[in-house]
Amino acid sequence: MSSPALAADDLTVTLGGAEILRGVSLAVEAGQVLGVLGPSGAGKSTLFRALSGELRPGRGSVRLGGEDVTGLPLWKRAQRGLGYVPQTPSVLFDLDVDANLKAFGRIARTAKPVGQRAAEVELEGRLAIRARDLSGGERRRLELARALTTEPRVLLCDEPLAGVDPTGAQRIGRILRTRAEAGMAVLVADHRVSEALSFCDRVLLLLDGRVEVTCGPAEFLEHPAVRRRYLG
Ligand SMILES: Nc1ncnc2c1ncn2[C@@H]1O[C@H](COP(=O)(O)OP(=O)(O)OP(=O)(O)O)[C@@H](O)[C@H]1O
Ligand SMILES: [Mg+2]
Repeated sequence: MSSPALAADDLTVTLGGAEILRGVSLAVEAGQVLGVLGPSGAGKSTLFRALSGELRPGRGSVRLGGEDVTGLPLWKRAQRGLGYVPQTPSVLFDLDVDANLKAFGRIARTAKPVGQRAAEVELEGRLAIRARDLSGGERRRLELARALTTEPRVLLCDEPLAGVDPTGAQRIGRILRTRAEAGMAVLVADHRVSEALSFCDRVLLLLDGRVEVTCGPAEFLEHPAVRRRYLG
């Protein structure tokens, strides 16, 4: 059997003396979009930071395509095919979209033309706009383009739909699905439950640093634990 594109086993992270992740295990296959839902403070960003290499877990492991990368920093995981869109903004605000894409391209040494990379995130008509003047959805798509520069096999997207209107959220969902259909494994954390469910293959509910539920998107809203402890 082949290894999952990304797997975590028993991840435990302690920050400021508090156990924020309490033994999280998960797996994402190539071609799959896995949604991570849960209230503010549940530990979604901490999980993504531990998966990306920004944070070291106190216990547990992270495997990328079967290789144990637990001890590797973010840049070495990036070299091995991991892309990461953090929750906080990560564009060069004073530069326009074209210059942002060129800068990301230089760092990642990609030969792919800027026009093609802009088109992949539906920003081809926005090349001359300064990043600071982009709408929330456009800025999120530019951040997505940044993570896609290296053509990652696994993409972590922390709240790609935050501050994005419903049409823009559908657009981002479509871009992520297209990537998954081309074989990428995608992990998405968000608060936009119905939009996230529309493009995820599997969903997990993170509560208080633990995975409480893992199910298909159709079962999520009806799941007793989801209704009782998350949706209210
Ligand atoms: N460096 C740190 N030191 C102490 N506590 C931290 C640190 N970083 C995060 N936390 C705490 O960990 C908990 C989980 O934070 P995290 O950002 O992972 O939640 P989240 O699920 O992503 O929330 P949101 O949906 O609001 O983004 C929070 O209670 C937060 O205050
Ligand atoms: Mg978060």
